[in-house]
Order: sequence, then structure tokens, then C-alpha cells
Amino acid sequence: MLLRRFFFLFALSVSLSLSAQTSTAGLAVTFVAGDQTDQRVDRLLSLYVPAGQSPTPFLQAGPFTAQWSGEIQSPIRGTFLLSAETSGNFKLNINGQPILLGTAGKAVQLNKGANVLTAELTRATSGDTFVRLHWSSKDFPKEPVPPTLLTHTSTPKLANALQRREGRLLFAQLNCAACHSDASLIPIKGQGMPELGQNAPLLAELGTKYKTAFLADWIFDPHAIRPHTLMPKIFSGTDANQKAADLAAMLTQGAAPVAEKPLDLKLAPQGGALFANLGCIGCHQRPDATGADAHDRIPLGHLRDKWQPPALIEFLKDPAKNYPATRMPHFRLENEEATQLASYLIANSRVTKREAIAGDAARGAALLVSAGCLNCHAGMPATTQPTLATVLKAGDKGCLGSDIASRAAAPDFAFSPGQRDALKAFLATDLSSLKQDTPAEFAERQIKNLNCTACHARDGQGSTWSKVDSEAKKLRDVLPAKEHVEGEAVPDAPVPPLTWLGEKLRNEWMSSFIAGKIDYKPRTWLIGRMPGFAHHADGLALGLNHQHGLPQKEASEPEPNAEKVAIGEKLLGADGGFNCITCHAVGDTAATAVFEAPAINFVQSIERLRKGYFQRWVMAPIRIEPETKMPKYADPEGMTQLTDTFDGKGAEQFDAIREYLRSIK
Ligand code: HEC
Ligand code: HEC
Ligand code: HEC
Ligand code: HEC
Ligand code: HEC
Repeated sequence: MLLRRFFFLFALSVSLSLSAQTSTAGLAVTFVAGDQTDQRVDRLLSLYVPAGQSPTPFLQAGPFTAQWSGEIQSPIRGTFLLSAETSGNFKLNINGQPILLGTAGKAVQLNKGANVLTAELTRATSGDTFVRLHWSSKDFPKEPVPPTLLTHTSTPKLANALQRREGRLLFAQLNCAACHSDASLIPIKGQGMPELGQNAPLLAELGTKYKTAFLADWIFDPHAIRPHTLMPKIFSGTDANQKAADLAAMLTQGAAPVAEKPLDLKLAPQGGALFANLGCIGCHQRPDATGADAHDRIPLGHLRDKWQPPALIEFLKDPAKNYPATRMPHFRLENEEATQLASYLIANSRVTKREAIAGDAARGAALLVSAGCLNCHAGMPATTQPTLATVLKAGDKGCLGSDIASRAAAPDFAFSPGQRDALKAFLATDLSSLKQDTPAEFAERQIKNLNCTACHARDGQGSTWSKVDSEAKKLRDVLPAKEHVEGEAVPDAPVPPLTWLGEKLRNEWMSSFIAGKIDYKPRTWLIGRMPGFAHHADGLALGLNHQHGLPQKEASEPEPNAEKVAIGEKLLGADGGFNCITCHAVGDTAATAVFEAPAINFVQSIERLRKGYFQRWVMAPIRIEPETKMPKYADPEGMTQLTDTFDGKGAEQFDAIREYLRSIK
């Protein structure tokens, strides 16, 4: 099974790299509104813009057109039926030929490899604006043209638009406006771009959590400890070390002494196996790892130097407690699991000899305000720093300076030259994009920021977790081998890919699930679990729906049709039906032969899945997941073996099954 997956990914990437040497994934989209234009790259040819909203944060709401350009990388030469669902006026052009898409679709000849595509959509005259481009062929039923087959070639204008976006995100996440304020340009907290104005961690009770000498090192140079931290290095002069020590003394002062009750390090092997099995290893380097990491994961080698062990256990159980916007997700760990993990992390991290500088807590208290710490950490208004208007005129100085001389007394964010250019490109705009946002872009930003692909494959790219499989196996193999018991979770069962989730899942279910608020686990056979990202869940779910051209809410359906319900019940079963229940449980009724391939309980599926996806999946599961064990029941024309119901028409039969499942209370 693994081999097949690799082959599929390999074949995809080869076909892309051979036929499109200069192309990158996604389609270029240009939005035009009045005399303003903006560009970005979208994964799919689809769009959803609710009435009264703007298609991108860089344009005002109002009439617009969207123009796509790029290539469809067809795996074969052949005839495909293209169709579009849209509320506006949609025009498509393939290899220079205009394609008139009627409601039934249009047969189009595609070459093997790149086919040049352009398309244009004008905003709907009233209501929401949307489009979704589909295709089908003699080999497969109707589906969205997949993101793995869409590519574009960049232009300087597009590169500049992407750079502006990168700068906008840096400006918001690094909290520039916390120190450089301007009430007319920056929206009030809670409005506009969601990443703007998020507080850094609450600096409370640090003495019971961290060791003072380490804290001083962190304040002195946070990037040396965590390369991608959002916290800048504040002090640079010859007294920088002393100031850091003063602050550390202040922040840990008065803490009740922690009983140095050592952790039971015998639990470390269990903790190591959890580190592998829960996917920590997709985001973090092992605590005993040294040197640069090929996957750019977050180092943990300093944990023994930093943490009081009881506090580490508490942190693992609720990482957002003092920091709602944290990127570290919530795993709902049992106390036992958190203790095992902490033992592993402490037992395997290093001890560094530190020269502790005596700090003065009173001086530290003054610095906490004057150095701007509390602007980020407590949302305290800026007082002494230059205003935003000054910053906009300053050029390569202060925080944007590339060396100590040009930075002078300003914080050091350790920018790469590309990040500095991105910030400058953004600061050259009128900053009005901070006052609004677009869900589809929010979702794309947060999938990167929160590193969802640490665990999930997406658009044909494997997850980090799957790439470090041999490392994970070593951690598991430390534990004595156990006989596999039927029904127990297994380590190598696949995590569902992110690729189609925007089309697959209902908005309410998806946002609750990402937030960690669904109290069951759909795939009981997985050893891993989806951790919660409560702070970002609603925006992620909505943005993913919009990326697939779908509204937040599906049209409500009438009560299930009684006649179909009866037929559906029969079709689901063993007697004259497809016998779906060999693998799928239905509510409290267990699957009859779960060893075939474990599947999701149908009662949960009805709660989770959008209507269109249910049909698309059952018609052709391997078009969505090439390695799935779910059987295929319909031929490419949509006909099944059960010719005595609905003349063998799969679409109607599966609809009846869905009606039956909807009727179950
Ligand atoms: C903790 C507060 C703080 C934050 C956050 C901050 N700055 Fe600064 N910034 C300063 C200080 C202090 C100076 C130096 C003022 C001086 O030299 O007297 C400065 C100077 C600057 C200057 C030069 C201004 C001039 O007139 O010389 C620019 C440009 C600048 N910052 C941009 C940024 C950007 C962009 C961000 C976000 C990535 C940012 N700053 C975040 C505190 C901050
Ligand atoms: C999706 C990525 C992701 C996953 C998965 C993840 N973490 Fe984290 N973790 C982070 C990030 C990012 C931080 C840094 C804190 C922040 O940004 O708020 C962090 C911070 C931490 C810290 C604190 C580090 C320090 O310097 O004090 C520990 C400990 C930790 N994670 C352990 C774990 C364990 C154990 C697991 C598995 C149960 C895990 N993490 C899974 C992203 C992740
Ligand atoms: C530009 C905003 C910003 C400024 C200014 C800033 N910090 Fe931070 N700080 C952060 C963020 C964000 C984090 C969370 C860590 C991460 O993102 O990697 C953090 C983390 C910390 C932590 C670790 C807290 C924990 O429990 O995990 C301490 C301690 C800290 N900062 C102290 C300070 C002190 C002291 C100053 C002033 C000298 C300061 N910070 C200035 C943004 C800032
Ligand atoms: C530590 C690994 C890990 C990370 C990081 C992670 N996921 Fe997951 N995710 C999982 C696992 C495991 C499942 C399957 C859970 C199950 O079915 O029981 C899952 C399932 C899901 C599902 C449900 C899919 C379905 O078909 O049932 C969604 C939606 C989802 N993840 C979204 C996200 C998003 C968005 C992010 C980033 C913010 C993310 N995940 C990050 C491990 C992870
Ligand atoms: C041989 C076992 C097997 C049989 C028989 C089977 N399925 Fe499945 N089914 C699966 C597997 C495996 C999955 C994918 C689970 C996952 O996403 O990890 C699945 C997924 C599904 C899903 C998506 C569920 C969700 O919530 O994401 C639906 C809907 C579905 N099957 C319907 C059917 C129907 C209808 C039948 C009978 C016509 C059927 N299945 C027969 C194994 C089976």
C-alpha cells in the first residue's frame, strides 16, 4: 500500500516537472475592480465571494472581475467534458479556443501535458458570486479539476502581489502596530485582519515554570533558541546581557520554590513512542537531535534547561492557557500521556552550563515597560516609539535595518532579506488591507502558519510525518514488541489528506472538529488524533469551503423521502444490497466484518459530509484517494451490478442510501 502511494506521488511530481519546467502549482488569478488590480495564486479554479465582500483584502468591496491564467497538466491526450457551476458570467478558453460551457458541459480535446487555460468571471449582479470548474471523461465521473494538475508561470507583477501579502502577514504577526501606532490606519482590536493585534503570551507566574538563567538567555536572543519565533531580540548594546538578567529576575521573582521532584525517567520510552505516534515529530525535532534539520522543525533540545518538570506537564495538557494565539495545538492528553511525554523530553534534552548574571528585579520592572515588552505581551498602548507615519517614511532603518548600525536602538526581528523586502512592499501600500480580510486567504495563511502539513498530505505533497517515518519507527521500536490485537489502533494507517476537505466537510462540523470540540474520533483505528487549534478553527473552516467555491451553509434539505429510505436501507445491507455494513458501523450496530477495512460510522458521516461529496466519493473513491480500500461500486458510466433498483443507476441508488442514513435518529 505504501509503495502504491509513493508511486502515485512520484508519477505526479514527475509529470509536473517534465512537462512544466517553469510552472508552479496553482493558477494565477487577477482581480480587477475599477482601476485597481490585485493578483494571487489559487489552488483550484473556483471562487466564492459573499455579497458585499471583496474578493481580496487589497481591493474594496464592489463590482469586480476575476481572470485566471495557467495550464491544465493533462495526464493523457483525450476528450474531457468540461462544465462550470457559477452565479456570474463565466468564460473559459483552452489552448486559445473559447469554450462555450452550457449547463450540460462541453467536450474538449486536451493534449497530454500542458494545456493553456484562461478564464474570466464577472461578479453576479446580485447575491453571492461563485464558480466551480468540473471535468469528467469516459474513465471517471464529474469532479473538480484537481489542484495537482493546475500550474502557472509567475510574472513580476504576480511576484510583487505575493510579496505584499507576505509583508502584510509579517506586519500583523510581528505586531509592528503594537509599538508604531496610528489610530487612523490600524483597526481597533478584534476587527479587520484576524492576525492583527494578537497578544503575545501572558507573562504570569514564570518563576514556577521556567529556570531564571534560561529565561535571561531567551530574552537576550530568542532566535538562538527557536529560529522562527515571533519574539524579537530587544537589546543590543554592551549591557544587553545585564538587562536580560534584570528582566529574568523580575519575571521570576517571588515564585514559590518548586519541589524538585524528579520525573520518573523510566517512563521516557513510552513518551518517545507517543512523540512519534501523535505526530509531535512532524513539527518538532527530537530533543536529542543536533545540527540543522532537513524539515525545519522546531528544536526542543533546551527543555531540561528551561522547564520545571511539573509545569511542562501542565503546558502539554493546555498549551493555549496563557497564549490563545499559540501555534502549538491542544492534544487533549491524559495526565499519564503528558507525564510520559515530559519524561521523554526532559530525559533526552541537553544540559548547558550557563554563567548566571545576577539580575536586579527593580531595574527589570522599569525595563518591562520602557523596552516595549508589554506592548506585545499585554496590549499596552505604545508611548515612546516612533509613530507609524514616521516608520512609513523611514526606509531601511530601525527595525528594518540590516545591520546593528542602521538598527540602532530598535528591536532585531532577524529578518531575511526577502522578509525585509516584503515588509517594505507592504508598507508602500495604503495599509487599508489591514481593515478587511478574505476567508480563503486566511485559511491558506494559517495552513502554513500552523503547519497542518506536518501531519496531512495536501495536493499531492506528502506530510512531514510521513517523511520522517524511519525516525518515528526507531522511537516506537524502543518499546518491546506487542502482539497486534484485533480492533487496536495501528501506527501506519493513513491520515486523511487535506486536499478536498473544503468540499468534503460541512462547515459546522469542520470548525468544531478543528477546534477540538468533537468528542468522538472518526477513525478509531488511527493511533494518532487530530489536535485542536481552537483560536483559528472558524476562519480555517470557512476559508476552506470558499476555496472550493462553496458557501458556508448548504441549502437545507426536506425530510427524507420515505420511499427512498426503504430502498436505501435494503441497498446498504447484505440481502440484495451492496453490503456496505461489512466495513461501516451504523450507529450502535457494529460493522459485520471490520477486518476487511475499518471505515467511519455512517451516523457520523451524515453529520460530517456535504451532500455533493457523499455522491462523488461513493461513485469513484479512488479518484479521491488512490490507495483507499473502499470498493468501487459504479462503472465510469455510473452503473452498478444491482440492476433491479433504479435500473442500476448508481447516482440514484447512493442517493437512496443517503436518504436512509439521514432518516436514522
Ligand atoms: C517593541 C516595540 C517595537 C515593535 C514591535 C516594532 N518596532 Fe520598529 N522601532 C522600535 C524602536 C524602539 C525603534 C527605534 C526608535 C529610535 O531609534 O529611537 C523602531 C524603529 C523603527 C523604524 C525606523 C524609524 C525611524 O524613524 O528611524 C522602522 C522603519 C520600524 N521600526 C519598523 C518596524 C516594523 C516594520 C515593525 C514590525 C515588523 C516594527 N518596527 C516593530 C520599536 C518597535
Ligand atoms: C502543528 C505543529 C505542532 C505539533 C504537532 C506539536 N507542536 Fe509543540 N509546538 C509547536 C509550536 C509552533 C511551538 C512554539 C510555541 C508557539 O508558537 O506558541 C511548540 C511548543 C512546544 C513546546 C514548548 C517549547 C519550549 O521551548 O518551551 C513543547 C514542550 C512542545 N511544543 C511539545 C510538543 C509535543 C509533546 C507534541 C506532541 C504531543 C507537540 N509539541 C506537537 C508546534 C507543534
Ligand atoms: C513584537 C512583540 C514582542 C515583544 C516586543 C516582546 N515579546 Fe516576548 N514574546 C512574543 C511572542 C509572540 C512570544 C511567543 C513565542 C513565539 O512566538 O515563539 C514571546 C515569548 C516570550 C516569553 C516566553 C513566554 C512563555 O511563557 O512562553 C517571555 C518570557 C517573553 N516573551 C518576554 C519578553 C520580554 C521580557 C520582552 C521585553 C524585553 C518581550 N518579551 C518583548 C512577542 C514579543
Ligand atoms: C499532529 C498531527 C495533525 C496536525 C498538525 C493536524 N492534523 Fe488534522 N488530523 C489529524 C488526524 C490524525 C486526523 C484524523 C482524525 C480521525 O479521523 O480520527 C485529522 C483529521 C482532520 C480533519 C477531518 C478530516 C476528515 O476527513 O475526517 C480536518 C478537517 C483536519 N484534520 C484539519 C486540520 C487542519 C486545518 C490542520 C492545521 C490547522 C490540521 N488538521 C493539523 C492529525 C493532524
Ligand atoms: C471494504 C470496506 C468498505 C465497504 C464494503 C464500504 N466502504 Fe465506505 N469506506 C471504506 C473506507 C476504508 C473509507 C475511508 C475511510 C477514511 O476516510 O479513512 C470509506 C469511506 C466512506 C464514506 C466517507 C465517510 C466519511 O465520513 O468520511 C462514505 C460516504 C462511504 N464510505 C460510503 C459507503 C457506501 C455507501 C458503501 C456501500 C455502497 C460503502 N461505503 C462500502 C470502506 C468500505
